[in-house]
Amino acid sequence: MRRVEPVARLAGHLAVPGDKSISHRSVLLGALCDGETHVTGFGRSADSEATIGVVRALGVEVYEHGDDTLRVFGRGLRGLRPAAGPLDCANSGTLMRLVTGILAGQEGRFELTGDSSLSSRPMERVASPLRQMGARIETTDGHAPIRIDGGPLEPIAYRLPVASAQVKSAILLAGLFARGGETTVVEPAPTRDHTERMLQAAGARVERREESVSVWPAERLHLGPVEIPGDFSSAAPFVVAATLVPGSELHLHGVNLNPRRAGLLAILERMGARITVYNRREIGGEPGGDLEVRSAELVATRVGPGEVPLAIDELPLFALAASCARGDSVLRGAEELRTKETDRIEATVDALRAIGQHARATVDGFRIRGVPTRPRGGSVEARGDHRIAMLGAVAGVASGDGVTVDDPDCVAVSFPGFFDLLAQLEETSRRTDSWGREDVL
Ligand code: S3P
Repeated sequence: MRRVEPVARLAGHLAVPGDKSISHRSVLLGALCDGETHVTGFGRSADSEATIGVVRALGVEVYEHGDDTLRVFGRGLRGLRPAAGPLDCANSGTLMRLVTGILAGQEGRFELTGDSSLSSRPMERVASPLRQMGARIETTDGHAPIRIDGGPLEPIAYRLPVASAQVKSAILLAGLFARGGETTVVEPAPTRDHTERMLQAAGARVERREESVSVWPAERLHLGPVEIPGDFSSAAPFVVAATLVPGSELHLHGVNLNPRRAGLLAILERMGARITVYNRREIGGEPGGDLEVRSAELVATRVGPGEVPLAIDELPLFALAASCARGDSVLRGAEELRTKETDRIEATVDALRAIGQHARATVDGFRIRGVPTRPRGGSVEARGDHRIAMLGAVAGVASGDGVTVDDPDCVAVSFPGFFDLLAQLEETSRRTDSWGREDVL
């Protein structure tokens, strides 16, 4: 249990750990490269550590230097070794789905397992297109454990039934091993493109279009140095907190602002948030920059299917912002939220109600009646879901009476230092005046 008390204002400068999606990919692609991949800014978390564990079990040497630097010694495109036992993907859907695509093309038998949350998430969405490529894959009633009998693959053109970067990535990675031509994935709506970017950087032939992407089989890959920008999904709780707590002025440095990731910014700006991007620059092959966030009074908005993949992991935070905005907000086309670490539609609505806000679940999203005052506060059940625990904490700083989060430790899945960083920020905020100067008295 952790109690998060209201704060008077949030002010200061922060940097968040490296992007989780890109951290996974740096290790997985690094494992397939020839030679050393030198990763800086690695976002260490339970999820990304599971990825290191899996590639080590497949015979890849990974050296860790400090918290955020890795050296991955790849075994080449076809060099992964069958492990002695099952490969444990812990809580990570990204790891399980991406590595399924990779292992489909490796010689040998592999078994993938996960924790109880991961074992309840749908896996046929990757197994089915990979089977169409000739892979021999069995799921357990559509779920993990997954058994893969890897071997030669053939190219396909596949239209994704759901907009999912994980499924797209699994097929593209398998496409590296597909003999005889290009593998194409058509998306119903654009999703995050970190795999495509990194494959290109590693020397693979990739062709990108607005609604589809193709990859050609590769002979060899080489990444060399990989710099990982700050995770927008870890910055987002602070962006929403500073927006909601009056008198705040917060700077977040070195954040990944890839438009396919940072959709929450456009949503918040539409709601009247005061967010400025400055020092725009490329960070590790991704569009990045620094953010200045000032508190603002928000108005309601509608979010539809096209915008959902661009803000998928931030939709619980959107719900909180909407509950403090003037007017009724609606989210539609987000049934995917029901297949995340928890059913995030129900978990979000229940969390908001538990702190006195007005929210109702719909089949594919939620409706929220916003009241532009501080939420009352109360107790939030995270249900073991890191994003819901962080939602509870942000609600706490913005609340009138404080919020208790039942399972704060689950934030370690993506952001182990979250509560420490929040506590540091509260401390500096108390000591700085409204010009951002340290109060020396
Ligand atoms: C991810 C893609 C998203 C996202 C997840 C990370 C990725 O999942 O929710 O946290 O790294 O590719 P889907 O692509 O399945 O929606």
